[in-house]
Amino acid sequence: MRDVPSATAAWIATWRGLGSRLPRSAQLASDPFGLRFGGPLGAWLGRLPAMATFPAWPMVIYIQVRTRLIDDVLRGFLTAGGRQVLILGAGYDCRAARFQDELTGALVLEVDHPATQARKREVLERTGIRLPARVSFVEWDFARRPMSELPGALFEVGLDKAAPVLTLWEGVTNYLEAAQIDASVGALRGLSAPGSQLVLSYLDRACIDRPRMERRLVARVAAMKGEPFRFGWFPAQLPGWFSDRGFDLLWDRDGADIAKDLLPLRWARLCSSRGHRFALLRRQGDPDRSPGP
Ligand SMILES: C[S@@+](CC[C@H](N)C(=O)[O-])C[C@H]1O[C@@H](n2cnc3c(N)ncnc32)[C@H](O)[C@@H]1O
Repeated sequence: MRDVPSATAAWIATWRGLGSRLPRSAQLASDPFGLRFGGPLGAWLGRLPAMATFPAWPMVIYIQVRTRLIDDVLRGFLTAGGRQVLILGAGYDCRAARFQDELTGALVLEVDHPATQARKREVLERTGIRLPARVSFVEWDFARRPMSELPGALFEVGLDKAAPVLTLWEGVTNYLEAAQIDASVGALRGLSAPGSQLVLSYLDRACIDRPRMERRLVARVAAMKGEPFRFGWFPAQLPGWFSDRGFDLLWDRDGADIAKDLLPLRWARLCSSRGHRFALLRRQGDPDRSPGP
């Protein structure tokens, strides 16, 4: 990506913030901070009457599903006693603020491109968003800084290498090169103690190789902002690919199927486009526990 704050991060934060404008039965997660990161567009959308945001609902509902799914993984990890959370490519993810209470005493490490992270910190400070005490920001350009150095940098800011960590890798993998993905997963294996988990979203490779019309349009706009879609896995490859790199797959699901589970049909139909997938992995060699999505 270019050396400017991520445009896609601002869009996602905006869609997340607009979740509160959806009808109640379509709401799955609340992010009262999202619109603050959307710049003038976010501010304008935030002032519109709820019904006027209707054209954006398919995207907003998809982001509700994505947010809720990852929120549930985070809740499960914290409830099971996990106290370390790493957010890779954090963008304007405000889970540190949204989960203030549950994260009391936990360590949250946010890793992101320096330009995006600088903007996030500026908005957090300017708009008075309070974070729990143990949040550390670590600047990292995945394209320029060797990922092999990431574990050491995180240990330096307090990551306990003997304690489990939950890594959130949400909305990032499709923007990276294959070599950066490989290096990132190697780094994650290097910093993951027994009991650690990794939750990620990814694009089915077929959507990159043969995108449908609407996805081609989104990809083109993202590319114009310097954030082209580059990487995806074929779902059938995922278990073997991660197993070779020290992680076992617990589940891997399409967002459209998760939407059907979480939402009334009339809302789930709005995000029925397939290929946005989610997976939960755990460090290999851990005792068998298979939480459902
Ligand atoms: C679509 S945003 C997702 C942000 C956040 N995880 C979310 O779901 O709201 C993509 C994120 O990946 C980060 N990113 C993309 N390429 C990067 C790179 N080469 N180095 C560091 N961060 C990068 C961007 O800064 C941005 O925060």
